Amino acid sequence: MNSKIEFCKIDYIKEKIRSINSDLILIIADLNVWSLYSKVLPLMNIEGKKIIFWKAPDGEKVKDFENLSSAIEFFLSKNVHRKAHLISLGGGATSDFSGMVAALLLRGIEWSTIPTTLLSMVDAGIGGKVAINSPQGKNLIGAFYHPTNIWICDAFLETLDKREWSSGAGEIVKYAFLSKEIGEKITPEVDIKTLIKDCVLYKEQVVAVDFKESGERKKLNFGHTFGHAIEVEYQIPHGLSVIWGILLVDIIFNEGKLIPKVKELVDNLKIDLGDSPWLNKEFPVDRIMNYLRKDKKTTSTDLIEFVVIKEVGKTEFTSISFSEIESKLAENKDVIKKLTI
Ligand SMILES: NC(=O)c1ccc[n+]([C@@H]2O[C@H](COP(=O)([O-])OP(=O)(O)OC[C@H]3O[C@@H](n4cnc5c(N)ncnc54)[C@H](O)[C@@H]3O)[C@@H](O)[C@H]2O)c1
Repeated sequence: MNSKIEFCKIDYIKEKIRSINSDLILIIADLNVWSLYSKVLPLMNIEGKKIIFWKAPDGEKVKDFENLSSAIEFFLSKNVHRKAHLISLGGGATSDFSGMVAALLLRGIEWSTIPTTLLSMVDAGIGGKVAINSPQGKNLIGAFYHPTNIWICDAFLETLDKREWSSGAGEIVKYAFLSKEIGEKITPEVDIKTLIKDCVLYKEQVVAVDFKESGERKKLNFGHTFGHAIEVEYQIPHGLSVIWGILLVDIIFNEGKLIPKVKELVDNLKIDLGDSPWLNKEFPVDRIMNYLRKDKKTTSTDLIEFVVIKEVGKTEFTSISFSEIESKLAENKDVIKKLTI
């Protein structure tokens, strides 16, 4: 089942929730988002509905077993029933987490999501991949579980700080390599609302043909294999890590030929990328290799698959042994050390 995606104003959300066919609404809201928007979006009182509310630690912190168990036990203690409908309000971390709760509670209840960051509007909120993290790596515990509704309101972007804005735009850089059409629209004057719609549409089409990521959908992981490792190693936002991941893949598989294009996109989207976190230091090959060995894209005990793009719009899937990738990182160590755009 695909999700119903609607672009709407914040005021309409309450009405949308009121029209859900359930008398019981469970809300999981990111703490920061709730303190910013609970007045504009008063969800605690909706005619004809009982509301049970769980305030989530903000951002990535929520994505662990402890919080998963707390939220589930909390809802169970309030006597939820199978027709209960869960609403996620927050960025990608909140929707990844909420989707896990929805998938597990009473063997699965329906859920809907209200993405509040640029990244979750263009990517994380769409496509039904839900997950929490393990100390062994990011998103290693998860499920495929479509939300019923996705309500996208760009007004939430007004309170995003520059770093979170840049992180979301990082995923747009990925789309610019996957789709020539999207890439060509990214000029310094680009209209972000149109771009959000284009990215959503693109992702939706990819997910429609390959929900469980056995083929086509894998291309959405461009930049993510190194990206996830960098995100955990340096604790930098997801979308910025994806940009560094794209750059590393390009250095290793394409002699860095796309670096100028990445720079152009970063400039046009006004992304505050900063320097690489390892600039002029040794790139931690051993530690990065440890993350790669635990990545979901590992296809055998010795092989990992990378999404490689040498020409915009043309994706290749390249399986490579861990020893080979380690050698390639070592060979390119000087270029990587000085990498800056
Ligand atoms: N499931 C998927 O397909 C998918 C795809 C990409 C990324 N992800 C996941 O998404 C997560 C990253 O999500 P994210 O970038 O949306 O950030 P996030 O959910 O981690 O939120 C980042 C910060 O922004 C704050 N915030 C959220 N909305 C705000 C708003 N409107 N105004 C002010 N502050 C706001 C949050 O409180 C938090 O502090 C990662 O865990 C990543 O793994 C999932």
